[in-house]
Amino acid sequence: MRAIALSISLLVGLVGLAVAVAPAPGPAGAAPAVQGCPACHGAAGKEPGLDALAKKIKNHPATAATAVAQCIICHRAGPAPPPFRTVLHKQHLASKKFTATYKGTCTSCHKVDTATGTVTVYGLEK
Ligand code: HEC
Ligand code: HEC
Ligand code: HEC
Repeated sequence: MRAIALSISLLVGLVGLAVAVAPAPGPAGAAPAVQGCPACHGAAGKEPGLDALAKKIKNHPATAATAVAQCIICHRAGPAPPPFRTVLHKQHLASKKFTATYKGTCTSCHKVDTATGTVTVYGLEK
């Protein structure tokens, strides 16, 4: 009986701790830690920065772009070079690393303005 009571209080304590440690969710869904490219790209111990990714691509033109707002200048209209609206969805949503390790979702990149209902991309807000 005592052991059960002890483990229950331990459990309650752990749940309390988890609630206290969990970051408050942002208004648009995903927690602030995964909102926008720089949350995962270019930070120590995470994925390479956007400029490093572009450099790794075979035949990629030399560019000073470091942020999505600069990449998108070439990667919006399509069909060539491939627009980010198709490239990024494939590369991320089909990746176990993105979905499982980073717990990435649509709102890791997309910002939903709950007042107007407008959907944009973090870093590409108008
Ligand atoms: C929640 C984390 C996360 C966010 C936010 C994120 N990425 Fe990524 N990205 C990843 C991961 C993880 C990979 C590696 C996928 C794999 O290899 O399975 C990746 C891969 C990529 C690649 C492909 C690299 C290659 O050559 O295969 C590009 C390009 C890229 N990201 C650009 C972006 C851009 C631009 C944004 C913002 C609009 C962004 N990412 C936002 C996690 C993220
Ligand atoms: C000056 C225009 C330009 C800029 C700026 C630019 N790119 Fe590119 N990108 C290209 C071209 C052209 C290709 C096609 C290269 C080839 O395959 O010949 C390409 C290809 C890619 C691809 C491969 C897509 C696929 O699936 O085939 C990725 C990923 C990519 N770029 C990411 C980036 C990122 C990230 C940035 C910003 C750091 C960026 N690009 C900035 C022109 C640009
Ligand atoms: C890695 C970042 C990333 C993730 C994750 C992501 N998107 Fe996107 N999405 C983008 C970017 C970048 C664009 C292109 C924006 C632009 O061109 O202005 C885009 C464009 C779009 C568009 C416009 C498509 C068009 O053809 O005009 C829709 C709709 C969309 N995303 C829905 C989603 C949904 C639904 C999810 C989740 C299932 C998702 N996105 C996940 C980055 C992302």
